[in-house]
Amino acid sequence: MQYKVIIPAAGSGSRMGAGFNKLFLKIKNSPIIELTIKIFGEDQRCNEIILPIKEAEKHLFETLNLPNSIKQKITYVQGGSERQESVYNGLLSIKDAADYVLVHDGARPFVSKDVIERILERLNDHQAVICAVPMKDTIKKVIDDQVVETIDRSTLWGVQTPQAFTYECLVQAHQKAIQNGFLGTDDASLVEWNGQVVSVVNGDYNNIKVTTKEDLFFAETIYEQYRD
Ligand code: C5P
Repeated sequence: MQYKVIIPAAGSGSRMGAGFNKLFLKIKNSPIIELTIKIFGEDQRCNEIILPIKEAEKHLFETLNLPNSIKQKITYVQGGSERQESVYNGLLSIKDAADYVLVHDGARPFVSKDVIERILERLNDHQAVICAVPMKDTIKKVIDDQVVETIDRSTLWGVQTPQAFTYECLVQAHQKAIQNGFLGTDDASLVEWNGQVVSVVNGDYNNIKVTTKEDLFFAETIYEQYRD
């Protein structure tokens, strides 16, 4: 199965507080985004890596230490003011409606081959597939420093990326969301909102999204354990 991956990379990473795009923070000498791109660049089934970016940062992406075989797969598109818009701009650049599309956050540099494998396998008979892990903590709804409700954890999952879709399924969901002003925090939420089934496979607790400063410590540990 051939697929394209959209890796939105146009964020500012305000929760990281680095003062620049957090995707260029280094984990053991490699920028986060370089690690993320390599995972898909090395997968023979991935025939295009679409990167929504800020134009002003293009030179930074172009100087990433990637082999030519991976650089040739990259298409840059204009990022949007929201992640959703960045992904949609990526979708608009796709010419072949027959393709499968994966969307993966640039800030998740540790997605394993096993997770990608599980997703692609499930995509054989589903239009939309996400990976997720069961919640470990007790989850409470809190308003104004006060617990409002303790939510039954047994059905709660923490959702990760990649999220995979047929091109038609994802583009339709995005277009309907734009028409109705619906903003989701991930792509699957647009597909759900469009009334379509989203299938779930097991993700991986190591597939973290590097979001805040503490995550950098975990990221270094995961890197040492799992990458060569
Ligand atoms: O900020 P957060 O980590 O949730 O963003 C998830 C991903 O979406 C990041 O890789 C970020 O670069 C990307 N993004 C984007 N365009 C935006 C906002 C975020 O491509 N306007």
